[in-house]
Amino acid sequence: MSVNGTVVSELGTKIIPGVDEVSLDGEMVELPDKKVVVMLNKPAGFLSAMSDDHGGRCVSELIPTDAYPGLFPVGRLDKDTTGLLLFTNDGELGNALIHPRHHVAKTYLAWVKGSVGLRALQTLQEGVHLEDGITQPAHARVLEQANDRTLLELTIYEGHNRQVRRMGAAVNHPVEQLERIQIGPVELGDLQAGKWRLLDEEEHRALLAATGLSRDRMDS
Ligand code: URA
Repeated sequence: MSVNGTVVSELGTKIIPGVDEVSLDGEMVELPDKKVVVMLNKPAGFLSAMSDDHGGRCVSELIPTDAYPGLFPVGRLDKDTTGLLLFTNDGELGNALIHPRHHVAKTYLAWVKGSVGLRALQTLQEGVHLEDGITQPAHARVLEQANDRTLLELTIYEGHNRQVRRMGAAVNHPVEQLERIQIGPVELGDLQAGKWRLLDEEEHRALLAATGLSRDRMDS
């Protein structure tokens, strides 16, 4: 067997599907692209897109697109929102994660203006009137209150455009800073801003389970 033209005889030699060229007895071996999920800690100032006609900086600059061809972002974060953004080359998983039918939870930390009282918290939880309808029940709790700002943890189960910012504005607590820290079972953890990593097998399986997709998908 040879990898990129070099003969290898060692068992367990690692290759990157879609990047390394593997031949056996002189014949090129076609490898199926392994399905992967990559997490990025998106910094502020980057568009959640693979390219931008207007020359804006895109998250594609920050992820391993050569090693894992076909990656696309699962949903979007606003340009100024930071935190957990997932990418996958598995179209079905990507679609399932953003489809409202699956109610996959997304958790945010939001610094909002003002001191958030019980009434506003209750409205955020029960449903906020936005121009495109009432938001579904959410979880909201105050984590910190300081200098006329409040740090909220907010979990929503749908994904309207700029939803958290609009929910904050609707209860008179505009969002000043927004970070996503969790999608379904997957947590951002201590990944540094601008860095990426592959989800491990356990996280990948848990994500599939959250959308009801079969585990067999990981192996094809
Ligand atoms: N809600 C927002 O308002 N912005 C995001 O980027 C994500 C959720």
